[in-house]
Amino acid sequence: MSDTFFEAVHPVQKRMVGRAVLAAILAAVAGLMFGLDIGVISGALSFITKEFHASQVAQEWVVSSMMLGAAIGALCAGRTSYLIGRRRSLSLSAFFFVAGALGCVLAQSLMSLIIARTVLGLAIGIASFVAPLYISEVADEHHRGSLISVYQLMITCGILLAFISDALFSYYGAWRWMLGIVAIPGVIFFIGTFFLPNSPRWLMLRGRQAEATETLITLRHTPEEARREIAAIRAQLKQKQRGFALFRENPNFRRSVMLGIGLQMVQQFTGINVIMYYAPRIFEVAGFGQDGQMWGTAIVGLVNMLATFIAISFVDRWGRRPMLIAGFAIMALGMCILGFLLAAGPHASAITHYLAVIVLLCFITGFAFSAGPLIWVLCAEVQPLQGRDFGIACSTLTNWITNMIVGATFLSLLSTLGAAHTFWLYAALNAVFILVTLAFVPETRGMALEVIEHNLNSGRKLRELGR
Ligand code: BGC
Repeated sequence: MSDTFFEAVHPVQKRMVGRAVLAAILAAVAGLMFGLDIGVISGALSFITKEFHASQVAQEWVVSSMMLGAAIGALCAGRTSYLIGRRRSLSLSAFFFVAGALGCVLAQSLMSLIIARTVLGLAIGIASFVAPLYISEVADEHHRGSLISVYQLMITCGILLAFISDALFSYYGAWRWMLGIVAIPGVIFFIGTFFLPNSPRWLMLRGRQAEATETLITLRHTPEEARREIAAIRAQLKQKQRGFALFRENPNFRRSVMLGIGLQMVQQFTGINVIMYYAPRIFEVAGFGQDGQMWGTAIVGLVNMLATFIAISFVDRWGRRPMLIAGFAIMALGMCILGFLLAAGPHASAITHYLAVIVLLCFITGFAFSAGPLIWVLCAEVQPLQGRDFGIACSTLTNWITNMIVGATFLSLLSTLGAAHTFWLYAALNAVFILVTLAFVPETRGMALEVIEHNLNSGRKLRELGR
């Protein structure tokens, strides 16, 4: 994928019309907001806890209220993006994002903070559904996959930026600044969305064919290319989106929806967000002082971003299944060793502390080149056309619900099971996911989506959908 990725974003090769690349990348900035939100809380949490004397459960709610909002946002996003369009939905999500960030800055109680974080969640719930959909609708077919991966890259950039800003503001204990600063990219993104073209596919969906053709001509090399694509979209739209009705009637569609839901559960139960939300806390358990905790977390963000390039470069050469299996194996091993190291407690030797960091970074690398981007790619690939919006909405919703469960239970697990057993639990889950991948995950590398759909409809086993 490395070639197509660079062709997609490198203006010299002009493989894809600049305006379409720009539109896709601008939409991918929604991923940046997603990442900023995920990353920012880890550094702010200890200061919030001190200021509001937050109990453990309250802390878990401060973290996971965002995921609750995101689940609601993802649930409403399908309908919203149909009614007001993809572009305006992105503007709406940027608006909620800025409003939520300012709400956090001004929060005078835990309750108001939790409400503001729910609004933030609403924003990224909508964005996480609409942005990949919009990208896939403006990008041409040869660059769709790589541009969706750019979206994941933006998520990791957002997390990294949030970790760095957390580290800088931590010297002043300025948690309101940590949470407020993300409003700046939010405002820029909000303004940017007004320059995005409407999605031609959405315009067609709403019966605005002339406008759709006009827009698509600006996004493709030649008017003929645009017209051909409009004809293809028209043919596709004859297959009406049947969503829930199809789910009720068609057992094969039920299988692909369940696969999408299962894949997102697997992604979240790797325990990735335990690290994303509570990294400083883990560094504390491993015996690091405040500086070490904050900068260690920033390095976690950096490695997460860099390792995403491995996926971008190799996913179309090595395939989804081998990369997922390798990723789960590394994560299982990482969590297992981390459990042993943390069992030694904060008074263990310096070597133990540094080993814990190295193992943590291995875990992050394992996630970032496998389950991080690949689950999003697979979820978009396995749904048949007629039920795509519904199928992707179900899997995105699952991502946020399980994300919330992980966020809302980690501290309780830590205090009831202890650090070692908590990490061993995640190690065991990752080991199980290797078996789950072997049993259910199809290899979709280089496969036309029509073939995958045909295989699904002819009742093939899920793991054979790509054969
Ligand atoms: C996941 C997020 C996670 C992020 C980390 C995404 O693919 O959906 O939950 O925080 O990756 O990079």
